[in-house]
Amino acid sequence: MERSDEVLLEMRNICKEFPRVKALDNVSLKLKRGSVHALMGENGAGKSTLMKCLFGIYAKDSGEIFLEGRKVDFRSPKHALENGVAMVHQELNQALKRSVMENLWMGRYPKKFGIFTSDGKMYRDTAKVFGKLGLKVNPRQIMSTMPVAQRQMAEIAKAVSYDAKVIVLDEPTSSLSEKEAGQLFEIIKGLKEKGCAVIYISHKMEEILRISDEVTVMRDGKLIDTRPAKELDMNTIIKLMVGRELSNRFPPKTNTVGEVAMQVVDLTSQYTNVKNVSFELRKGEILGISGLDGSGRTELLENIFGISARKSGKIYLHGKEIGNRNARQSIKNGFALITEERRKNGIFGILNIRENTVISNLKKYTGAGLWLSEGKMKADTQKMIDSLRVKTPGQGTKIRALSGGNQQKVILARWLLTEPEILLLDEPTRGIDVGAKYEIYQLIIELASKGKSIIMVSGEMPELLGVCTRIIVMSDGQVTGELSADKATQEELMRLATLNL
Ligand SMILES: Nc1ncnc2c1ncn2[C@@H]1O[C@H](COP(=O)(O)OP(=O)(O)OP(=O)(O)O)[C@@H](O)[C@H]1O
Ligand SMILES: [Mg+2]
Repeated sequence: MERSDEVLLEMRNICKEFPRVKALDNVSLKLKRGSVHALMGENGAGKSTLMKCLFGIYAKDSGEIFLEGRKVDFRSPKHALENGVAMVHQELNQALKRSVMENLWMGRYPKKFGIFTSDGKMYRDTAKVFGKLGLKVNPRQIMSTMPVAQRQMAEIAKAVSYDAKVIVLDEPTSSLSEKEAGQLFEIIKGLKEKGCAVIYISHKMEEILRISDEVTVMRDGKLIDTRPAKELDMNTIIKLMVGRELSNRFPPKTNTVGEVAMQVVDLTSQYTNVKNVSFELRKGEILGISGLDGSGRTELLENIFGISARKSGKIYLHGKEIGNRNARQSIKNGFALITEERRKNGIFGILNIRENTVISNLKKYTGAGLWLSEGKMKADTQKMIDSLRVKTPGQGTKIRALSGGNQQKVILARWLLTEPEILLLDEPTRGIDVGAKYEIYQLIIELASKGKSIIMVSGEMPELLGVCTRIIVMSDGQVTGELSADKATQEELMRLATLNL
């Protein structure tokens, strides 16, 4: 079906207030058939909330929603789905102990005595859905044993299997590799051609400009503008998002490099592909690790931190060999690891922001006795809220009530506060908006300026070039090159990243 100007879904004057936060202030949105409509805005702008109002996860305070001209008011995501409106969430919401096919057909396949009636048919139907999307997934695989990327694909397959007319993707590529993201864009293209409309939420400018037809920018709960994507460029979008010009994407590198702090010699992992990795890390240095997904970057960090096993190799800190056989030892040795799946691993949803910020750092707040220094805790937490611009009514707000990106910031803040000697960062700015990224870079550089050493894994090459001192590139578990960040180029990084493949 051709793309037309026919409006498939319309949201009109949507308002939603939380205690002390006006999350949505009179937002209106028209979604055209056969188009991809990007929704952009800083962390906490209201993107997810707008979608949650559409799906009946939150009750909107006022406003109306029309699907193909008919007024609708969905009570739940299931209700929306039954009407052809599907959502793939920022936080995946799956029955992890169940198989892929059970998740796909849950609530739809006839059951007898709690067991699906035709296992064989369900298997075949599932394979068919994935086949249509060009995906290879074992329908019987248990969700919890699959990487996040595949779980996300399974969620998209579910939407497709319902013949959804409208599909909402909230930060779908935040944990996909480049190849998987490419696959997803192909799927989206296919959906468009079928006349579906896609709402696409993402912080990644390049992909927004690549796949969307229209872009809506939100700020502080308000709709700022909706424009055709072809009239926009990166700087214009950033300006609409943050409300001011952002002249530099990276702060100046003020850190200076000193003596060798840590050495890794001939490290080989027990269960993954990391092989014979050697490098040194200096005081005040920010060492980038580049490479494609699956190149062993994350595994290397986990090996160094001791949460996945080493087969051989040694680690030296200030010339002395150290064990780092488990997280406890590593923390004692002054290491900290911030993992890429922060949201899953790092959040205490029911605690408030202050508690979350200081929890890994309690020792610092106990003075002479066992009393926590409330004043110091408050001051440090406030400093983090201010410098990372965490959007929240206050320190006492439960972290669950923050937007996805703001939750990330709190977790990051927690570790930065501990001022570790050696900081291992895995994708530190994933899901974080452009403005706040700058603040995070700044904090990382500040830490290095204090003489701490940092290793930073990132799939975003411009970020590595903009922040790091030196970059090593990995391919299939091995180091294929080492470059000074000032002289390196994206092309060179890419060449080294594909060397062993
Ligand atoms: N359940 C809730 N209770 C209280 N406040 C909430 C709740 N959900 C969202 N908010 C607030 O509403 C505002 C908008 O949040 P929302 O999650 O929509 O942001 P977002 O644009 O999706 O950001 P991100 O890019 O970080 O995902 C934020 O200030 C957030 O703290
Ligand atoms: Mg969100």
